[in-house]
Amino acid sequence: MSCTLLRPDVAATLAREHAAAKAMREARRIQSCGEGRPETHKMDFRTSEAHRTQYLSIGPRMGRFLYNSVRAIGARNIVEFGTSFGVSTLYLAAAATDTGGKVTGSEYHANKAEKARSNLADAGLSARADIRVGDARETLRTVEGPIDLLFLDGAKDLYIEILKMLEDRLRPGAFVITDNADHLPRDEGFLRHVGQGSSRYLTTLIGFNKGMASQSLVLS
Ligand SMILES: C[S@@+](CC[C@H](N)C(=O)[O-])C[C@H]1O[C@@H](n2cnc3c(N)ncnc32)[C@H](O)[C@@H]1O
Repeated sequence: MSCTLLRPDVAATLAREHAAAKAMREARRIQSCGEGRPETHKMDFRTSEAHRTQYLSIGPRMGRFLYNSVRAIGARNIVEFGTSFGVSTLYLAAAATDTGGKVTGSEYHANKAEKARSNLADAGLSARADIRVGDARETLRTVEGPIDLLFLDGAKDLYIEILKMLEDRLRPGAFVITDNADHLPRDEGFLRHVGQGSSRYLTTLIGFNKGMASQSLVLS
């Protein structure tokens, strides 16, 4: 299997976007006198300036985890809730190139989806991803199964709703990877849904830079 993540156009686009995300975070930190990351989970994703303009993207460690996960299970039908400028989508689409698959992304803000598409084009990955614009509760409703891997990284309070919406199309052995799985008290509900006591999911919590992610294996 070739390793598309190391292809020069992919690596250069990722390096550029990670650097831009870091610069934006730093500029905001200075602007807000070091108050730290905006608490986006308390904001409405449709109206908040942060959701419309900021990367809020995963880091390279989480990116490589996504990339390896797709390849490890040979995922071809990959769905992403919350694309933003497409940093995570670049990792997923690079892996989809290796498995012969495709990513269906979702982003509420049209300006972000546009930039995500342009990033995918710069990386030579346009054919591997389709970004749907609008509320994922609508745009992902019609995604066809069987889904091999679902990445949850949109509004945290919608994780359960999105998962339930797509649940009947997750194939046995699918991975559900969730960023900031422990972010909100309300996410206790999410972890309850996929965690101990669930007969459908086998879940592991994993620590990355910005909190915990979870990886759930669909049992049946
Ligand atoms: C944390 S960011 C995603 C970062 C992206 N996965 C990455 O690593 O580059 C969350 C994004 O999800 C979008 N979002 C949140 N809820 C959404 C919804 N219901 N439908 C579509 N997009 C949504 C927000 O606008 C925001 O851009």
